[in-house]
Amino acid sequence: MEEIEWGKLPFGYLKTDFNIRAYYREGEWSKIEISDSEFMPVHIAATGLHYGQEAFEGLKAYMGKDGKIRLFRWEENAKRMQNSARGLLMAVPPAELFEEAILTAVRLNKRFIPPYGTGASLYIRPLLFGSGARVGVSPADEYMLLVFVTPVGPYFKEGFNPVSIQIARDADRAAPMGTGRYKVGGNYAASLASGVRAHHEGFASALYLDAKEKKYIDEAGPANFFAIKGNTYVTPKSDTILPSITNKSLMQLAESIGMKVEQRQVPVAELAEFDEVGACGTAAVISPIKRITDRDNGHEYLYCKDGKAGAVSTKLYKLLLGIQYGDEPDNFGWITIVE
Ligand code: PLP
Ligand code: COI
Repeated sequence: MEEIEWGKLPFGYLKTDFNIRAYYREGEWSKIEISDSEFMPVHIAATGLHYGQEAFEGLKAYMGKDGKIRLFRWEENAKRMQNSARGLLMAVPPAELFEEAILTAVRLNKRFIPPYGTGASLYIRPLLFGSGARVGVSPADEYMLLVFVTPVGPYFKEGFNPVSIQIARDADRAAPMGTGRYKVGGNYAASLASGVRAHHEGFASALYLDAKEKKYIDEAGPANFFAIKGNTYVTPKSDTILPSITNKSLMQLAESIGMKVEQRQVPVAELAEFDEVGACGTAAVISPIKRITDRDNGHEYLYCKDGKAGAVSTKLYKLLLGIQYGDEPDNFGWITIVE
């Protein structure tokens, strides 16, 4: 294997040794299969390709100082994939199948788990899609579950350094009553144009507002939004955002350190009242935000005036990573050790 510079890894794809596949056919899930190919044959009329009958997940395996491999709340990812599957009328993978697929993928690619202390981790990407052929718009009768892994560094190149993001009022990643709460490819396809434009205009991500009223903050392209106001952790409540496992965990951690937690509508105007703001997710971890620019009117909301992440965001970041890498006690039962 070519030497990997663990500390310099971007959030990207790197070939690993094996991936895992399972098939749903004639009403039943197959046993898992191990593949060393990066390719798969797909029917030319598969619904996953034509009608977006597709969902994915993202979680990470972390190498501890003690040499143990830890998974963070994989059961939550399994549940969310099942929920996405139900939302798009796909076959629902049993949690045990999901578990066996991710554990096997991690075990077989152990040499790609970044060493402790490099700031990198092994990203696990489960994918579910309609593999059966349809030409009319209807759900497939066959599905495939695939799991690949790849070692990754921070999603935003800034890492834990504060980023700038852009409110995009002329774009929505999800419609009211649509699929925003599911982790389905279509939401990401819908976010590409505004996300790439935000990059070109110098921002790490777009920030979307609620699609109906354009008054409240929804989330960033690949991550939830949170804010700190005094001793309160504030995060949007909305049917069109992805229920982030990281955000849910941060809410619990915030409460555990004596903070108040408010999950509610967050009006754009309230951005002027926050002490700290950030994006959170498996890939993004916590990305502190230093500037939010409203693309329509040029209005800027500024944070991190000393150039550094805020004290509360930093504390939550350290706590979360500490649990994930095994440096902090797992008081909530979030960790699974991969034997
Ligand atoms: N929001 C979106 C749109 C995402 O793609 C992700 C990543 O999965 C998140 C939020 C964060 O979710 P989680 O913390 O479960 O990774
Ligand atoms: C994640 O945080 O796992 C994501 O899926 C975000 C992005 C890579 C789509």
